Amino acid sequence: MALLPILHYPDPRLKKVAKPVAVVDERVRKLVLDMAETMYEAPGVGLAATQVDVHEQIIVIDISETHDDLRVFINPKIVEASPETKLAEEGCLSVPGIYDYLERPQRIRVQALDVNGATFECEADGLLAVCIQHEMDHLTGRVFVDYLSQLKQSRIKSKMRKLERESA
Ligand code: NI
Repeated sequence: MALLPILHYPDPRLKKVAKPVAVVDERVRKLVLDMAETMYEAPGVGLAATQVDVHEQIIVIDISETHDDLRVFINPKIVEASPETKLAEEGCLSVPGIYDYLERPQRIRVQALDVNGATFECEADGLLAVCIQHEMDHLTGRVFVDYLSQLKQSRIKSKMRKLERESA
């Protein structure tokens, strides 16, 4: 396994739209393992392939405290979303140190492929639902700060640029 470098907002590569995975093969399974290792090391609760500059529809999530409940979604689609929404605080490994509240459907039903290429469906609510929607946004080139006001976005951009300069 290997740690993968994570792109930081406002890197324009975070805006790329991911393509569906054609075949779930060894290459994809290796990428999934590397993404999981990168997420655990960060540490974070979710990572989309877009964030490691791979523009394919793959996300990994583990919301457990014990880091032993890895969930993998390949070519995920939301097939149902509840009309009820919920406000929850979000953060992102691509926007370190920034947290803000977003409103999203409270419950969703997702269809995806697993690491063996088999189709599965799952229902999610709470943190898992937030996480899946957040990571799926990455696959369409969207970062959670894109939902915030222009003023907040420009503040976050200058904060991120300052961080990059300090770490350069
Ligand atoms: Ni994120």
